[in-house]
Amino acid sequence: HKATITLDPALRVGPVQRRTFGSFVEHLGRCVYTGIYEPGHPTADEDGFRRDVLELTRELGVSTVRYPGGNFVSGYRWEDGVGPRERRPVRRDLAWHVTETNEVGLDEFVRWARKAGVEPMMAVNLGTRGVLEALDVLEYANHPSGTSLSDQRIANGSPEPHGIRMWCLGNEMDGPWQVGHKTAREYGRLAAETARAMRMAQPDLELVACGSSHLSMPTFGAWEAAVLEETYEVVDYISLHAYYQEHDGDLASFLASAADMDAFIEAVVATADAVGARLRSPKRIQLSFDEWNVWYQSRWHDQGPPSDWPVAPRQLEDHYHAADAVVVGSLLISLLRHSDRVTAACQAQLVNVIAPIMTEPGGPAWRQTIFHPFAETARAATGQVLRTVPVSPSAATGRHGTVPLVDAVATHDAEHGRAAVFLVNRSTDTPATVEIDARALAPTGPARCRTLSDPDPYAANTAERPDRVAPRPNTEVHTEDGRVTVVVPPVSWSILELS
Ligand code: AHR
Repeated sequence: HKATITLDPALRVGPVQRRTFGSFVEHLGRCVYTGIYEPGHPTADEDGFRRDVLELTRELGVSTVRYPGGNFVSGYRWEDGVGPRERRPVRRDLAWHVTETNEVGLDEFVRWARKAGVEPMMAVNLGTRGVLEALDVLEYANHPSGTSLSDQRIANGSPEPHGIRMWCLGNEMDGPWQVGHKTAREYGRLAAETARAMRMAQPDLELVACGSSHLSMPTFGAWEAAVLEETYEVVDYISLHAYYQEHDGDLASFLASAADMDAFIEAVVATADAVGARLRSPKRIQLSFDEWNVWYQSRWHDQGPPSDWPVAPRQLEDHYHAADAVVVGSLLISLLRHSDRVTAACQAQLVNVIAPIMTEPGGPAWRQTIFHPFAETARAATGQVLRTVPVSPSAATGRHGTVPLVDAVATHDAEHGRAAVFLVNRSTDTPATVEIDARALAPTGPARCRTLSDPDPYAANTAERPDRVAPRPNTEVHTEDGRVTVVVPPVSWSILELS
């Protein structure tokens, strides 16, 4: 089948937001322990951080990292994770039914973030705690010195304030699985009180109120409206979370997951703007898509939580295949095309737990298939996002309605004279010939294209064969007078670069 895309530098969505390329480190499974942190590992540095993971994190191009949860944060006492290690309590974590040793906490995480070159983004516990504890962790983290908690931080070895700007007001408070789950009104009030108090301490914070855990939550829409009615003037963002997987062998629907993400984003924008209109507020709420990914959640639910409270067990360790990478690439296309409103996002998570980076304790670290579209998009998407409307044949799917088979978004960096087109072919069996009219960008050289696909869409990367699935040069690309033609295989993600 055939698709066409016309690029026009005048039709802009808005600037590429670096925070689109955020990630997430939760105290969950082996994300922290034997993920980012493993003293005794051959690559461990003086702080016990795995250098191999640090290098891959930098290569991934991650901008912001959310911490420490996730569901974990709703039972977390941040004080447990600071101060001398031998005095830190060992506790049960009810969210994941494991034992938390607290060997790593806020100060270690910020130290790791600085080494990785990422911006730390913190979540406060509004499940089982409240305003005072949120103020305490803010004072500990960000106040320069001369108060009880800031002086504790200094005594604990962090003389400089951590300077954390972005704070999540709780996590997935709409979910009955959340420890301290609340109704929208209960949560909205608590989030508003917490936000007001945090701003009294530090006015320039960027605060995120919890939206729905998924588009299919029964309270979706009503939840956002009620929470924003309480918090509109004191928060900057409302959060969205979404995970996708293939159900019952329906690959076509799975490949169309980004249609669900598009609909989710647009529904939240409409809901937030409706609240703004009712309040007669000129302010626009931004969207923080601070958990998104492919996650074979049904496997986790079938397995159930561990009964023996293990320390850092293998939890949520999905091994991703080629089709998963195509879906991750298409979800990034959806996030980018909404860059005018989605100004922060976090892929969940960074290491081992539904993650682009996998490790073995004492062993190697490698790139899962989903690493590649993330790293390539984070690297090449610069400048402005262009309004990109592919004209493509559509196909009906079981779960997401009728969707175009070719989806794409382009970015244009006039300052550096370069452009990129990110595109997916969601057909399960037919290659696509895509014609891109880039004459308005006046490229001076031929387009370069790399494509991720595999004859077996279920081929995965493993410790033994870490490079089985990766983008490879696409030789079926031709440029003539600013018009590019490229042939992309079925179930594929591609990046096409022009300069
Ligand atoms: O990322 C895994 C979990 O998914 C998070 O802890 C939670 O917020 C979400 O339900």
